[in-house]
Amino acid sequence: MPNDAQKFQSIISHCKEYGFIFPSSEIYDGLSAVYDYGQYGSELKKNIRDLWWKSMTQLRDNIVGIDAAIFMHPTIWKASGHVDNFSDPMIDNRDSQKRYRVDHLLEAFADGLEAGGKKAAAEDLRSTMERLLAANDFGGLKKLIEEKEIKCGVSGTSNWSEVRQFNLMFSTQLGSVSEEANEIYLRPETAQGIFVNFQNVQKTGRMKIPFGIAQVGKAFRNEIVARQFIFRMREFEQMEMQFFIRPGTQMEWYEYWKKERMQWHLSLGIPTAKYRFHDHVKLAHYADAACDIEYDFPIGFKEVEGIHSRTDFDLKQHQEYSRKKLTYFDTELNQHYLPYVIETSIGLDRTVLMILSEAYQEEDLGTPGKKDSRVVLRFPPKLAPVKLAILPLVKKDGLPEIAREILAACKPHFRCFYEEKDTIGKRYRRMDAIGTPFCITIDYQSREDQTVTIRYRDSMQQERIPISQILEIVEKEIVSKLSESDEAISKLEKSSEELIPSMKMYFADNLYRSIKLINIIDRKLVVTFNND
Ligand code: GAP
Repeated sequence: MPNDAQKFQSIISHCKEYGFIFPSSEIYDGLSAVYDYGQYGSELKKNIRDLWWKSMTQLRDNIVGIDAAIFMHPTIWKASGHVDNFSDPMIDNRDSQKRYRVDHLLEAFADGLEAGGKKAAAEDLRSTMERLLAANDFGGLKKLIEEKEIKCGVSGTSNWSEVRQFNLMFSTQLGSVSEEANEIYLRPETAQGIFVNFQNVQKTGRMKIPFGIAQVGKAFRNEIVARQFIFRMREFEQMEMQFFIRPGTQMEWYEYWKKERMQWHLSLGIPTAKYRFHDHVKLAHYADAACDIEYDFPIGFKEVEGIHSRTDFDLKQHQEYSRKKLTYFDTELNQHYLPYVIETSIGLDRTVLMILSEAYQEEDLGTPGKKDSRVVLRFPPKLAPVKLAILPLVKKDGLPEIAREILAACKPHFRCFYEEKDTIGKRYRRMDAIGTPFCITIDYQSREDQTVTIRYRDSMQQERIPISQILEIVEKEIVSKLSESDEAISKLEKSSEELIPSMKMYFADNLYRSIKLINIIDRKLVVTFNND
């Protein structure tokens, strides 16, 4: 396996080569930090989006989903604080004219220190940076950059400007281009679409507090340092949920959602050790507590999801700016109040990158006499873009006809892929490379006894099964790999309310591994615990 920096580059190349993700407008030399999802990438992204949507809305009685417009009244962004506060401290290199986000410049330098074995110095730098950012100490940040002799990647010099704030919102014109009043913004987060619809949903849905509103949609930010592939984009997708609660209960709900969201991440089959919480030192203008769930990407631990206790800031601001009453009447308390809010906000594109990073493996399959290798994407079957490949061994003698019958029977249930070109070995490798968990091969024996060979992506094991059982076997595998673990983790969680959180994590992680192991060995629904 290549080192992490190489692995990241390999994932980017693999995504392009196999139809997952392309640079946007590539034939015009691309557009910086904008990407297009190809035939497999869009399926993967959709599967992740659907999984999140189902777990946040369908499986919960008190959360509903909406789909608000991207264009919103410009005053919304004044009320939310984005016009005045949605900015990052930037610094320009005077020689290259290149602009950098100060925290990214310092973080990249700290990453370099860490990669060079200077972990303590890196940690020290990060904590000094956080302290200065929290205090809005721009002079201190510039001094820190100069002290560390950080250089611009383009000019190679340390000729830095002062640190200044730079707003990240894109603006455009609605209708006539000349009137300033018509300037609107592309939303930098989906959350405000939920806040301004709070009363619509609460009243029409007769929702009672506590309840949540979820939304998935595009957001736009004029990121200054936009690199690292789909980790930081200028156009991206968020999956956000605002949970409306009684004032004063926010810390309990904040802890609740931290735990719930971490369980969701673990249910993807990613081990606990690949995640950590990062508490914010500098809180956003709307928050009284906030943390990130970070995943250990090949580029290091980075934020995938934010959990924020947003108080009543947003509703209060919209009430003031719109002059419409947004209070809720709590019949149990016989009281009107502005609800407090806990937000969970996860980047869909970052989740795609997380799933790809976790799934990507280069495997050496060589034997003493023969070199061999494969690149395999070990996606959880439920998330895989294609679930089943249907491969007639040869394209004659009635085998394609049998294969097409199987295709017709399976494709209403899950995404299939039919292919008859090339050797079976090459076809298996191509399916490994796009992460297809199951391949069915139709051969001459199939004509005699109506059986086929099923080949499992992860173990590469093959077995003979009746054609009549394909649908059942694949469906069971697709559903079981995640829902068993979800169910088991939630049962475990209920029975372990008293355990300290780290122990819960430990058991949840090991329980998942046990289930996975049993699925592979036995493919039966048997839940046992690892003893180690
Ligand atoms: N409503 C709160 C909010 O937007 P955020 O921490 O700024 O909070 C939430 O963003 C999530 O959106 C992040 O955890 C990240 O996954 C994703 N995200 C933010 N900026 C992004 C970007 N430029 N490219 C891709 N994903 C991004």
